[in-house]
Amino acid sequence: MVNTKVLKIDPEKIDIDKLVIAADVLKNGGLVVFPTETVYGLGALMKNIEAVKKIFLVKNRPMDNPLIIHVSSVEMFNKLIEKPVDKIYRLIEKFWPGPLTIIWWRSKNVPDIVSAGLPKVAIRMPAHPVALKLIDLVGEPVVAPSANRSGKPSPTNIEHVLEDLLGLVEIVIDSGDTLYGVESTIIDLTADPPVLLRPGALPVEALEEAVGEKIVVTDTARGYREYGEAVAPGTRYRHYAPEAELVVVETSDYRYGLNRVVTKIRELISEYSGKYNRIGVICSSETCSKYMDLDIKIYDIGSRRDLFIVARNLFKTLRRIDHDGVEIVFVEGFEEKGLGLAIMNRLRKASNYNTIKID
Ligand code: TXA
Ligand code: MG
Repeated sequence: MVNTKVLKIDPEKIDIDKLVIAADVLKNGGLVVFPTETVYGLGALMKNIEAVKKIFLVKNRPMDNPLIIHVSSVEMFNKLIEKPVDKIYRLIEKFWPGPLTIIWWRSKNVPDIVSAGLPKVAIRMPAHPVALKLIDLVGEPVVAPSANRSGKPSPTNIEHVLEDLLGLVEIVIDSGDTLYGVESTIIDLTADPPVLLRPGALPVEALEEAVGEKIVVTDTARGYREYGEAVAPGTRYRHYAPEAELVVVETSDYRYGLNRVVTKIRELISEYSGKYNRIGVICSSETCSKYMDLDIKIYDIGSRRDLFIVARNLFKTLRRIDHDGVEIVFVEGFEEKGLGLAIMNRLRKASNYNTIKID
């Protein structure tokens, strides 16, 4: 166990002295949890193999699940890749700093452990001022998976981080709630056309417009179970999962089918109420009132007209369910447009593919 020090840093008025402390810990091979615009990250100096190993230990993360490298400049990025093409820089120009992770061929400067031995590496430039300044002060790339124990929902605030990592990391930087609440979008640009490996805070529609071609959205990216060889190594493992059982009820048409989703969930609740003491429902602001008469816990995750808020509330809600001791929770699905794709990916995985589709 280590003594975890919490440094409160206001992103709008960064206390450089505090950030220097964190940068020094990273330079000396320690672990630092820092905010990004998506979720909190568990950082280590990329070139320090021992420090990187600690990340896998602390998170209890399988060694074959590669890490995202975080950079604060394009120069830093250029040293990590080989044989770049124009397309990369077009995307960087438009979306960095921001929630876009690019997969490209790695250079010799990337240690094997970081990319789990794969010939490709994942890199992004975070848009959070604290993250950017921290990497800048370190002067070297920083690897950072989400700062949760493997299998848990990614942390969007400091309480989540401490729940999972207190006593396991040297420094935790507290800069309040993260902006997006879901992780970055991961795109493999070595494939032609490019392949979406993980939908995230940057909608795939925006990416398609920028690259001027259709991006392949696999079933894995949509959050369905994968068969055979994994595309994104991390997708093989159970993710985002609360202790509670989760059942996602989906439809192909939320405009006209939403009432049927509600009806189905009400049926399921009455069917399960004999078997479980504590039942919950995750619903949208539009529909939560339709469960008010039932003896269950109701979690309003936000309006269907503002998926930005739904995404922001997602992991928070999954963690709250466990705090409330809910045993089974039924979740209304969302349309897979814009942030809806990332939301459904996380929900399907969190449910361990326990989904019901009605038409
Ligand atoms: O928003 C984010 O991306 C956050 C913040 C902290 O930056 N980070 C994050 O990292 O979500 P992590 O480790 O929780 O998720 C990284 C995902 C994993 O699913 C991993 O398998 C995939 O990226 N990945 C990393 N390197 C890869 C590679 N070379 N090829 C394919 N997938 C890769
Ligand atoms: Mg993660």
